[in-house]
Amino acid sequence: MKIVFVSSEVFPFSKTGGLADVTGALPKALSSLGCEVKIFTPKYSSIDEDKFGLKYNWKIGEMPIRVNSIIRSAHLHQALLPDSNVEVNFIDCPHYFFRGQIYTEHPDEDERFILFSKAVLETLQRFNWAPDVIHCNDWQTGLLPLFLRDNYNWDKLFENTATLYTIHNMGYQGKFSTSTLLSAEIRSGFYFPGGPVEFEDSVSFMKTGILFSDIINTVSKTYAQEILTPEYGAGLDGVLRERKDDLYGILNGADYSTWDPAHDKHLPYHYSSNDLSGKLKNKKFLLEHLKLPFAEDIPLIGIISRMVHQKGFDIVTGASTDLMNLDAQWVILGNGLSEFENLIRSLSKKYPGKVSAYIGYNNELAHLIEAGADIFLMPSKYEPCGLNQIYSLRYGTVPVVRKTGGLADTVHDWHHLKSLGDESGTGFTFDDYSSYTLYTTVKRSVETFPDKSTWHKIQMNGMKKEYSWETSAKEYLKLYQKAVEKRRNI
Ligand code: ADP
Ligand code: GLC
Repeated sequence: MKIVFVSSEVFPFSKTGGLADVTGALPKALSSLGCEVKIFTPKYSSIDEDKFGLKYNWKIGEMPIRVNSIIRSAHLHQALLPDSNVEVNFIDCPHYFFRGQIYTEHPDEDERFILFSKAVLETLQRFNWAPDVIHCNDWQTGLLPLFLRDNYNWDKLFENTATLYTIHNMGYQGKFSTSTLLSAEIRSGFYFPGGPVEFEDSVSFMKTGILFSDIINTVSKTYAQEILTPEYGAGLDGVLRERKDDLYGILNGADYSTWDPAHDKHLPYHYSSNDLSGKLKNKKFLLEHLKLPFAEDIPLIGIISRMVHQKGFDIVTGASTDLMNLDAQWVILGNGLSEFENLIRSLSKKYPGKVSAYIGYNNELAHLIEAGADIFLMPSKYEPCGLNQIYSLRYGTVPVVRKTGGLADTVHDWHHLKSLGDESGTGFTFDDYSSYTLYTTVKRSVETFPDKSTWHKIQMNGMKKEYSWETSAKEYLKLYQKAVEKRRNI
C-alpha cells in the first residue's frame, strides 16, 4: 500500500508535542509492515540540514503556488527518517517557514499551511506518484482533502486516492477569517452558515478535514467517544456525530527504540524490569543535576508538559499549597501560558530543595525525568492519547492521571482494582476534574510509595505493558483499506 503521511511536525526534525513523536514513529512501523510511505512536512529554519543530510531535489526545482493571490515558489528537500528507509519530503518556502518557531500567531498563519497542503499535491504530481491514501494530521492539513476533491479534482492521478484524517487534539482547530477563502481559492459555494467549511462565522480547517476525508480517526478509543459529546467536542461534536460511522479510535504507540530505559541514549544508567537498580542511580544523578537533596524514601514526582489548560494546570494551581505540604520532591519541565510558568517558577523559589522547575523545552531532561522520577503526574482536563504516561509505564515511573481519553485507556488504578481482588493496577487515577481529587490522588500515591513490595508490583505491572507501534500500525492498515474501499465505491 502506498501512503503519503502529512504532518506539520515530525521527530527528530521538528517537535512541539506528541504529534511529532507519532509522525516520527508510525511511518517506520507501517514501512516494516510492507507499506511504501512518504512523509511530507515543512522545512522550518530550525531544521539542521547538515545533521540530517537534507538534499535539494533539482529535478522538482521550483513549484509556483498561488496563495492569497501571490505566486510563491516552493522547493523540495529530502532525507531519510533516521533508522529507516522512509523518505521525508520537506516543503521549502522561506517566506512562510523561516519564522523562528513552528507555529505563529502571525496574520498569515493560515497561508503557511495552505501553501504546505497544496505543495504536497504539487510534488506528488511532479513525482507522477499516486498514493492509495493521503494520511492528514490535525488542523494544519485539514484543507488538503478539500483541495484533493475540488481544486485538484481535474487530475486523474488522484482519482483513486483516499484520505484519512487523524485528529490529535480537538482544542486546536485552525479557525480563520473568511479572507482564507480567497487565500486558499476555496469555492464560495462551500462557505455558508452550517456549510462544510464554515464554523462560527469563520473558516475552520478542522471541520473541513472532518467533512472531506473518507475516514476519520483519533488517537484513543475513549477520546473517539468523548468527542461526540458537547463537553469534549469543542463545538464540533455535532459535525463528528454526523460522521460517527466513519470515526475510529486507535491508540498511539511508544517508539521503544527511543523511549526504553534499557537503551535510552540520554540516560547515564540503563535498567529494565529485571533489575531496577539503575533507576535509583538515575534518580540520584537527576537530583544532583537539579541541585536537590537525595533521599531514597522521599518520592520524586515528575511533570513534563505543555503548560496549558488542557494539561490540568488550573487544578494544579488550586491544589499547589496542599501538594507542596506532601512529603515529596518535584521536578517540573515545560512551557506555555505565562500564568502557569509563573506559578511553577514561584513554587521553585518558595520551596527550594523541594521543587525544581525548568521552564522551556529540553528533550534530554525529559528522558532523565522519565527515568529518575518515582511518580509521573498528568492531571489533564482532556487527553486525546498522551504519550508521557505510556513512556512512564515503561520507565517504572508510576503515573497519576485523570481518567480521560488515552489516559483512561492506558493507566489502571491500583486501589480500585485491588478492591476487586485484582493486582494488575499500573497507577493512580481520578475522575472529577478538581483540585481536591487531584490532591487526594497524589497523596494516595505518595502514601503508597513506602510500601516497597506494593510499589514494586505496580512498577512491574506497568513496565511489562507493551504499547508498540506495530500493533497500532496494523490497525491503521485496516483503516487505510476501509478508506480505499470507500473511495472505490463512490
Ligand atoms: P501533547 O502532544 O498534548 O503535548 P503528549 O503526551 O502526547 O502531549 O506528548 C508530549 C511530548 O512532548 C512528549 O514526547 C514529551 O516528552 C514532550 N514534551 C512536552 N513538553 C516538553 C518539554 N518542555 N521539553 C521536552 N519535551 C517535552
Ligand atoms: C496531541 C494530544 C496528545 C496526543 C498527541 C499525539 O497533542 O494532546 O494527547 O498524545 O497529540 O497524538
